[in-house]
Amino acid sequence: MMPHQNGIPPLVTALKSSAEKNAASFHFPGHNRGRAAPASMTALIGRKPFVHDLPVLPELDYLFSPNGPILEAQLEAAKLFGSSHTWFLVGGTTSGIQAAIMATCSPGDVLILPRNSHVSAISALVLSGAVPKYIIPHFHNDWDIAAAITPSQVLQAIREVEMEGKKAAAVFITSPTYHGLCSDLSRISELCHSHKIPLIVDEAHGAHFAFHSKLPKSALQQGADLVVQSTHKVLCSLTQSSMLHMSGNIVDKDRVSACLRTLQTTSPSFLLLASLDAARAQLSENPDTVFRQAIALADETKSVLKQIPGISVLDNSSFPASPAVDPLRLTVGFWNLGLSGSEADKILYKDYDVICEIFGNRSITYALNLGTCREHVHRLVLGIKRLAATYGSIPKAEKKVVNVHAPFDDVIMSMIPRDAFFASKRKVAIRESIGEVAGEIICPYPPGVPILIPGEVVTENIVDYLLLVTSKGAEVNGASDSSLSSIVVCGKLAAGKEHP
Ligand SMILES: Cc1ncc(COP(=O)(O)O)c(C=O)c1O
Repeated sequence: MMPHQNGIPPLVTALKSSAEKNAASFHFPGHNRGRAAPASMTALIGRKPFVHDLPVLPELDYLFSPNGPILEAQLEAAKLFGSSHTWFLVGGTTSGIQAAIMATCSPGDVLILPRNSHVSAISALVLSGAVPKYIIPHFHNDWDIAAAITPSQVLQAIREVEMEGKKAAAVFITSPTYHGLCSDLSRISELCHSHKIPLIVDEAHGAHFAFHSKLPKSALQQGADLVVQSTHKVLCSLTQSSMLHMSGNIVDKDRVSACLRTLQTTSPSFLLLASLDAARAQLSENPDTVFRQAIALADETKSVLKQIPGISVLDNSSFPASPAVDPLRLTVGFWNLGLSGSEADKILYKDYDVICEIFGNRSITYALNLGTCREHVHRLVLGIKRLAATYGSIPKAEKKVVNVHAPFDDVIMSMIPRDAFFASKRKVAIRESIGEVAGEIICPYPPGVPILIPGEVVTENIVDYLLLVTSKGAEVNGASDSSLSSIVVCGKLAAGKEHP
């Protein structure tokens, strides 16, 4: 291992010294340490990113069997985030979620998960062959936003699985949600552990949680066994870089490593890996105060916005079942102005160059972070004030308020996602798909919740809902025909392959 020099990130140091070598380089990538970098890219970002875009070299270490600077960087991260082991990921949180589920669920095992889980959890069902036991989240009517999963929902799911004579292999929870709503993970982990079930937490949006007393407690602090964080979302590493943390010994660490070897590239980007190390070091410098200013700015922004007539600001009062809401997530409701999230967003984008993180049917969500500056906040507040002044004066009768609810009560799983994924398929007109088994994931955005998961029966309600939201401008992710005039359904299953 390299000598550790006063907090200097070990992998960044290794990358720097490797790039500074006067090496006769006969290795990939073909830009040859920037010498043949495409001019259009160097005009944009210079040569340095290429100079440091190095392949796997002994002095840089091996992601799948680290014993040098990668190991050192992962150990530093484990110490800071409070895990017993941390893996650096170059396939985003997506690869970490898939590995966590594959490491805990074998084909036929039951996985308890929210129906509105990120698509990576659904693809993990395909990869692992696990049988989903969905928890349907509550939706808040005004916000049209899914609430966080509660301990009693988890307990009910565990009991229902037990009543079928089975035991769940893992519980998967998303906390915080995209909108910053947190579950009571302390209670949920107690529940899971009392049933000897590992708890996996998708903490893609909460990698910053351990770093200020005003932030919610992190999943690791609350007893989760496997936690996946998008270090590239609220923290400052490069896009696509994430971390998977483990705590305790319920989960087999070697199996997690084997799953990651199966899922990830054999040519990891050292720029991504070094950026994870650097993002960790950035926090290590002053872990208790690094987010102080950002939180103060977010608090201030919310109190200003709350004073604007017709504007709603999401907080705990609307979601009392959540023990905490991320103070750095700002969700603003526009329904009292008669505007949908997408209509308000179009205006704020076009007239003020304000770019949000996500918009919903009735709200827009903004992500604040260490780089948020006062000028941008002023611009956002100014834009919202002007919107309120313009649309607040329109008589109530003329205001149309969008309110459509996803037909989750209709979920009928005819095949498990893995069988549906590998079944033969055909394309049918959307109206003709009623009664058929979905062969692809259909996820309208907003609200970004899968309405059909491979293996589920298409109902009339679901088709009506999909046609309604697409007519209102929702985009459909996952579908092979994004206009939704047709969808892919399963053909007959091969003999002997029927789901029991
Ligand atoms: C809740 C949630 N989980 C997981 C992911 C996947 O993260 P990544 O983009 O790092 O693969 C996302 C991405 O937006 C997400 O919102």
